[in-house]
Amino acid sequence: MKRLDGKCALVTGAARGIGRAFAEAYAAEGARVALADIDVARAGEAAAEIGDAAIAVRMDVTSQQSIDAAIADCVARLGQIDILVNNAAIFTAAPIVEIDRADFERVFAVNVAGTLFTLQAVARHMIARGGGGKIINMASQAGRRGEALVGVYCASKAAVISLTQSAGLDLIRHGINVNAIAPGVVDGEHWDGVDAFFAKYEGKAPGQKKREVGAAVPFGRMGTAADLTGMAVFLASAEADYVVAQTYNVDGGNWMS
Ligand SMILES: NC(=O)c1ccc[n+]([C@@H]2O[C@H](COP(=O)([O-])OP(=O)(O)OC[C@H]3O[C@@H](n4cnc5c(N)ncnc54)[C@H](O)[C@@H]3O)[C@@H](O)[C@H]2O)c1
Repeated sequence: MKRLDGKCALVTGAARGIGRAFAEAYAAEGARVALADIDVARAGEAAAEIGDAAIAVRMDVTSQQSIDAAIADCVARLGQIDILVNNAAIFTAAPIVEIDRADFERVFAVNVAGTLFTLQAVARHMIARGGGGKIINMASQAGRRGEALVGVYCASKAAVISLTQSAGLDLIRHGINVNAIAPGVVDGEHWDGVDAFFAKYEGKAPGQKKREVGAAVPFGRMGTAADLTGMAVFLASAEADYVVAQTYNVDGGNWMS
């Protein structure tokens, strides 16, 4: 008996990185899983590598029409959604006096509105089914504290923590647990992009910021997507039934709260 036998999961932003690792972990625990992404071709490759338990779904979390269509597609092919991971997000960085309004709106459209309205649509499905569910939002250590060059992204992740609290408190009466994971610094394509921003604004050589943040983690290195899957499986399982509206740091000791 696996921990997620009979369950169906929808993971947004699952074409690569952390979302993909969560999809693999859920499938390994017995779930069927939909890998949703704007990059549906890459999500399809990932789903094919996971095997028969996985499907790819086209989804742009900034579009209500796309959210609704992706959920309908997922329900048609998997039958139901028991687990949602709101993982899709984008990063940006700039000094406060250089923040661009269009960039702010782009980041909030994906990270905040995308999280809220995907959560809302899946919660409606879960309430209509009456079987409860598990919703996991991807926050960040960036949501715990502002950073000089990362104002917009930090604010977006603080909003994710706040929405997790409100949705968690509202939806538990329907048997829906809403919680969040706050990773620290996780190596992968996302952090390659972050490193490039710091190279631009702090004059660092490519790769230097990554080495610095890795060395500063109390655990002694950057995280990997695999470091997060234990928490993702736990929060999706019945073991987390009494866990409500929380944000868990999984960051090698970077942040304590
Ligand atoms: N990597 C880290 O160090 C780190 C740290 C803290 C939090 N996080 C969070 O964890 C989550 C996953 O991070 P990651 O490192 O795997 O990121 P990533 O950039 O590697 O992957 C993000 C995925 O989201 C998809 N995506 C982007 N916009 C989308 C949209 N509008 N609709 C649907 N999909 C979209 C991308 O195509 C991509 O596949 C994110 O929420 C991120 O903010 C990451």
